[in-house]
Amino acid sequence: MLDGSLLASSEAVIPATDEGFLRGDGAFEVLRSYGGHPFGLEEHVQRLLRSAAGIRLPEVDVMAIERDVARLVDARGTDDFSIRIVLTRGGRRLVMSEPLGNYQPAVRLAVVEYQPTLVLDGFKTLSYAANMLTNRLAKERGFDEALLVTPDGEVLESPTASVFWSPDGETLITPPLDGILASITRAVIVEGMTVEQRATTRDDLLAATEVFLCSSVREVQAVGAIEDATYDAPGPLTLRAKEVLAAAVQARVAAGAAKTA
Ligand SMILES: Cc1ncc(COP(=O)(O)O)c(C=O)c1O
Repeated sequence: MLDGSLLASSEAVIPATDEGFLRGDGAFEVLRSYGGHPFGLEEHVQRLLRSAAGIRLPEVDVMAIERDVARLVDARGTDDFSIRIVLTRGGRRLVMSEPLGNYQPAVRLAVVEYQPTLVLDGFKTLSYAANMLTNRLAKERGFDEALLVTPDGEVLESPTASVFWSPDGETLITPPLDGILASITRAVIVEGMTVEQRATTRDDLLAATEVFLCSSVREVQAVGAIEDATYDAPGPLTLRAKEVLAAAVQARVAAGAAKTA
């Protein structure tokens, strides 16, 4: 969908002069549709509004976004897929369906040094080249993805997911919302489990018993290794987090189905 017109994504055209393309100047969201129900649409739209306000993107038409999402979901029926919403500096609105990626049961992470850009802190903007590069750097070293760690050794997140860990299989910890994205999946897990939000060092993670990543698209994914450290994958808390997320999805899908019945 481009500005309200339903098209094949490969046929939607953004002018080369749009600064969303030229400078990565814009905001976006990715969420997942389950059986015809977009999970967390309200939270994703709220975060999009925060990102848009943060980068001074004017006039976000929330009703148009919600209408586009509804049309896209209607067109796709009850498949599970992901939905990408993009707002550009040039004033374009894209709402696209994308196939779900194939996430392996356990992922191996390489530590990549990363310094968050202070002025963009907490905003999900189109300037994602640094995140994508960190994954390429990790792959060059034979790992699957990056784990972003500041030059001071503070663990942030992965380039497209939040991180949780346990020192003992009982206490669940996640880094605070400082220099990382306020992940909607992270919030579901924080609400549904007992979680400490505290600063985490690279050394904490290397000594952990289990680590997992989460995001709207990948859901909960066990981490099998970070550098030379290996983990129980999936560990007990990872399995519990999967259950908590699945229950939250099921509850929302059931509520959505009741509303449309
Ligand atoms: C940098 C970053 N952190 C965390 C996440 C997970 O966020 P959410 O759970 O809202 O999908 C994402 C999602 O793409 C991300 O890009």
